[in-house]
Amino acid sequence: MRYLIPLTLLGLLASPTLASPGQELHAQNCLNCHAQAFGQDGSAIYTRGDRRVSSLAGLERQVNFCQNNLGLAWFEEEVASVSEYLNQQYYHFEQP
Ligand code: HEC
Repeated sequence: MRYLIPLTLLGLLASPTLASPGQELHAQNCLNCHAQAFGQDGSAIYTRGDRRVSSLAGLERQVNFCQNNLGLAWFEEEVASVSEYLNQQYYHFEQP
């Protein structure tokens, strides 16, 4: 119990918005360009009617393809955490 409060404070300091790692990676590397292409916060790219991604596996492939194109050299876990964030936030595919 005595460790809980300091850990919480540390978390607050480290990430003022309490974003998940996936959310932060996405905000730092992906969001700007989507917002420029699709307006506002860029989320329309994931919610538009003719969106391209149609499965969880497809989402991971697309995230990996994009980060690769951008030369980000993300680890598998980073691809997974961004995919998870996008799925929770926008796509809502069932976990297999
Ligand atoms: C240089 C601009 C740019 C950057 C940076 C970028 N994207 Fe994209 N992204 C696009 C464009 C444009 C499309 C739409 C392509 C289309 O409709 O054919 C897209 C589409 C997508 C889609 C598919 C959406 C759907 O379901 O239709 C995903 C997922 C995606 N991007 C993820 C990412 C991720 C993750 C990153 C960061 C690692 C990223 N993008 C960085 C321009 C960008």
